[in-house]
Amino acid sequence: MNRIIEKKQLSAEVFEMVVEAPRIARSRRAGQFVIIQIDTEWGERIPLTIADADAELGTLTLVFQTVGATTHKLAVKAPGAYIENILGPLGNPTHVENFGAVVCVGGGIGVAPLFPIVQAMKDAGNHVSVIIGARNKDLVIFEDRMRRFADELTVVTDDGSYGKKAVVTVPLRDYCAATPKPNLTVAIGPPIMMKFCEKTTAEFDVPLMVSLNTIMIDGTGMCGGCRVTVGNETKFVCIDGPEFDGHHVDFDNMMFRMRSYREREDSDHHKCHLELGLEPIQAAGGAK
Ligand code: FAD
Ligand code: FES
Ligand code: MG
Repeated sequence: MNRIIEKKQLSAEVFEMVVEAPRIARSRRAGQFVIIQIDTEWGERIPLTIADADAELGTLTLVFQTVGATTHKLAVKAPGAYIENILGPLGNPTHVENFGAVVCVGGGIGVAPLFPIVQAMKDAGNHVSVIIGARNKDLVIFEDRMRRFADELTVVTDDGSYGKKAVVTVPLRDYCAATPKPNLTVAIGPPIMMKFCEKTTAEFDVPLMVSLNTIMIDGTGMCGGCRVTVGNETKFVCIDGPEFDGHHVDFDNMMFRMRSYREREDSDHHKCHLELGLEPIQAAGGAK
């Protein structure tokens, strides 16, 4: 049982929670994640990246977007309540060294998992440029925190309500086309965004590291739910990742697999809204 210490709403759909998990807080490293279960009898298991941790206080910071049933149920929990189960730290830590110039791109909720990587890259002596992308101003998160570590920060929104009106690949292209080129780029966000970051960086022959957010169940390499194709090989994101060379990931196959349970997810999401007294949703897959 892990107690929720603090909860903040960062935007209309994004929440930050500080939870007690002393052993994980002491051992976690940048790039790792946990799998949480809100209730052990019926609750599904969902992976969330460790956005930050305090080893002395024994706490983890999780940042999540309310996209479906489980994240909505988590969002209504108040400080003092418990998450029944937190498993971790899982996944391989980010490979951090002094690469030189690193450009880090975060889209939507991907900005939260990017934060510990930006911190670690800066601590290793890199010149770190950060690009934050969001659909609109209300969905921009972590700007102040990023500013503390980034040598340069660019914010873009799809509708131009904040920062530049652009998608993240526009400033990313500018960095890649400059001389000297970045030594490494890192992208975390929706699969479609990572796919286009791959195309942009490939054009200039710039290395790209991505952190994949496939469906996960056990998180220990047993179920196969998280499998992806990387360079014609099958990899399990939970134990081989979550970070991979973006130039070898089959993003189309990954996106196809992530839609596998859409109908059931929409139905659960709809039921959850009714249970929580929220507006009923009419999701793409047809809520029942
Ligand atoms: P649902 O309606 O059930 O699903 C909505 C979408 O979320 C699905 O279409 C699918 O794409 C994805 N999803 C559903 N179930 C799972 C599952 N068991 N595992 C993975 N994806 C799933 N989200 C954040 O908001 N913050 C994070 O820090 C974060 N870190 C992640 C780290 C990793 C390594 C991975 C793999 C995913 C991460 N995610 C993160 C995604 C998060 O796990 C999903 O948004 C969440 O599981 C959705 O659950 P739901 O029941 O609310 O929504
Ligand atoms: Fe089951 Fe990766 S989540 S093998
Ligand atoms: Mg779900």
